[in-house]
Amino acid sequence: MSRPQNPFRFGDPVQGDYYMPLPEFDRLVSQFLENRIHTVLIGPRRFGKTSFVLRLLEEFEANGKVCLFVDIFNITSHRDFLQQILRALRAKKTWREKLRSWIETIPRLRPRLSMENDASSGLPSFSLSTDITEDKDVKETILDVFAAIERLGDRVVVAIDEFQKIAEIEDGGWLEATLRTQMQQLPNTTFLFTGSRKSVISDMLNNQSRPFYRSCQTLDFPSFGEEFIDWIIGRFALVGMECNREALLDLQRQVQNTPNYLQMACFHLVAMGVDRVGKEEIATALRMIVAQNSYAYQTLLNTLTATQQRSLRLAAKVCSQVFSKEVLERYEIASPAAMASAIKSLKDKEILDEGTARGVVIFDDPLFAIWLRMEFPD
Ligand SMILES: Nc1ncnc2c1ncn2[C@@H]1O[C@H](COP(=O)(O)OP(=O)(O)O)[C@@H](O)[C@H]1O
Ligand SMILES: [Mg+2]
Repeated sequence: MSRPQNPFRFGDPVQGDYYMPLPEFDRLVSQFLENRIHTVLIGPRRFGKTSFVLRLLEEFEANGKVCLFVDIFNITSHRDFLQQILRALRAKKTWREKLRSWIETIPRLRPRLSMENDASSGLPSFSLSTDITEDKDVKETILDVFAAIERLGDRVVVAIDEFQKIAEIEDGGWLEATLRTQMQQLPNTTFLFTGSRKSVISDMLNNQSRPFYRSCQTLDFPSFGEEFIDWIIGRFALVGMECNREALLDLQRQVQNTPNYLQMACFHLVAMGVDRVGKEEIATALRMIVAQNSYAYQTLLNTLTATQQRSLRLAAKVCSQVFSKEVLERYEIASPAAMASAIKSLKDKEILDEGTARGVVIFDDPLFAIWLRMEFPD
């Protein structure tokens, strides 16, 4: 008898049975987009933003809209940005012929994109011509491509994943301003952005001197509640495993409610072949996952100053009231100012994140906090 597939998945965006539907949030976001309101979804990394957007776009496409999904997480330049848009266009396999005629309608665009036939499928494809190296040409091409996207359909939705990268490119704000202009000028196109760096995005949207000032509806990506635990129990049941609900709720707290890590721990619990999932089994799985990252965490820690390391250890243990005198003394941190400055650097390095209240810090990676607690017990 073949073993049933593991019902859990982590790492990449999930779909189909591996995805817990979010019908209410679906409806909310759809309402905005249907009414041509540009929308920003903000939420921590690994919370399910990309999975959500991909699923929503599928539904929109089924309803006759033209959707484009552009992932800019790794861009470092205008050229990278352009390449990612072209890549998103190429991913639309059924549009091949449409894209070819579309490129031909824009005279300036044609020489900049080279048409070729895809070796494996024989279908027409295109890529950025290798002569386009000057930033000026790249910029013009970005504008042309936007103008062309508009012609792809009557209703177009462009999703840009991890869009705060636009603000992090050092170009004097050109890309940010350009995108804003496009949002205003393309009457049939609605933008859906996602982002994980709350402080960067808040400044983009709330600073009067920046182009995105009040241009979008922002929504906090919802954190999954107990319904996710029910969903997980249902997934375990598929492979005949029972589990203790309280123990899963406790795991959910430990991983700061991060769906990715819940699925990761559950994946390992299934792989370990335990019969019944309880507190101890979960602790074992969690230790194993954390140990797998141990080398990376150790390396990261070694790049930090002594005060930063102590501040992190403190934050991993204490979480709130991190500035209290008693706590600072225990962790050998000279003053609240030294702690504040360490926290600021750790935020810049994207290791810590903005908490909701003063004196509360959040780890970008909750497993790192668990590792610190394991590595430095009091
Ligand atoms: N709706 C969901 N149902 C179940 N698991 C989810 C869901 N959304 C996210 N996950 C889990 O989180 C992981 C990361 O999802 P992803 O969409 O890439 O997050 P983000 O884009 O916010 O970083 C997935 O591999 C999966 O394990
Ligand atoms: Mg993502």
